[in-house]
Amino acid sequence: MVRIRVRAAAINFFDALMVAGQYQTKPELPFVPGSEVSGEVLSAPSGSGFAAGDRVMAVVANDSLRSGGYADETSALPPAVALMPDAMPFEEGAAFRIIYQTGWFGLFRRANLRAGETILVHAGAGGVGSAAIQLGKAAGATVIATAGSDEKVEVCIKLGADHAINYQTQDFVEATKQITGGRGADVIYDPVGGDVYERSTKCVAFEGRIVIVGFTSGRIPQPPLNHALVKNYSIVGLHWGLYLRRAPELIPVAAKALMDLYAAGKIKPYVSARFAFEDAPAALRSVADRKSTGKVILSTSI
Ligand SMILES: NC(=O)c1ccc[n+]([C@@H]2O[C@H](COP(=O)([O-])OP(=O)(O)OC[C@H]3O[C@@H](n4cnc5c(N)ncnc54)[C@H](OP(=O)(O)O)[C@@H]3O)[C@@H](O)[C@H]2O)c1
Repeated sequence: MVRIRVRAAAINFFDALMVAGQYQTKPELPFVPGSEVSGEVLSAPSGSGFAAGDRVMAVVANDSLRSGGYADETSALPPAVALMPDAMPFEEGAAFRIIYQTGWFGLFRRANLRAGETILVHAGAGGVGSAAIQLGKAAGATVIATAGSDEKVEVCIKLGADHAINYQTQDFVEATKQITGGRGADVIYDPVGGDVYERSTKCVAFEGRIVIVGFTSGRIPQPPLNHALVKNYSIVGLHWGLYLRRAPELIPVAAKALMDLYAAGKIKPYVSARFAFEDAPAALRSVADRKSTGKVILSTSI
């Protein structure tokens, strides 16, 4: 394990579910939440590629999920740790790994997004959505984003979306068809599920791919598979964490591509709110209550 002095930690949606006892995995109480951090290496196994003092970002995980990252010190498996560029602030480092790795594997490995295609990103103003907008643009795609309020629509446009739709007040199916000249979106990136998934099948293009990223709506859809057959589209599952265990050699490949995009100024985490570690409950609540945009961060420098 790489031992890390924590400088910043991210709030991910599943952290909020976990502290509410609503996540699929329920750690034994008491437990320390927090799955993503940045900080300095305190110690590392020889041959791990890390040394004391290295600035790193890491996904914190252990089998019991009991000692997470909202702490002074934490630890992570070497494949889940990456060096941070000198110029990257700790707050960006803590916000980087999960959302962009998820986007990279979802869009490029699972959905084979190509330049010139159109991508529809649901919950575009959220953490994983904001990363998908930026990665889609960097890949030369036309990006349509949806969000649940006019303020969040503005965030999507600022992140680089070509079009953004408030899906509470506007029919995103009709809007997507209109924008694509009736074709629909080639790739649909869906962290929401429920009705949003079901409506998405009405505006997916011929040979399109719907990437199943999560179910923030709280409802897991049960799709009729004959619809995928008659319309020639694919439903593609994505569980980024499984790559850490099943194909860890792919993680540094994605990390290198992502760092190159960061260095070129094509992707940058949108950190919308910063909290001190002792205010973690309020930070978690802002994400659980759907109030946040981009990434909410805990930082030792507040
Ligand atoms: N598959 C993977 O490997 C992977 C990796 C990382 C995260 N995830 C999943 O991706 C999802 C998004 O995570 P995130 O950290 O980006 O979350 P986030 O920043 O909180 O964004 C989630 C967004 O979902 C939308 N939403 C729709 N219905 C909602 C509801 N009933 N309650 C709350 N939010 C709702 C909200 O946007 P609007 O208001 O705009 O609708 C909200 O901002 C989560 O389900 C997470 O577990 C999956």
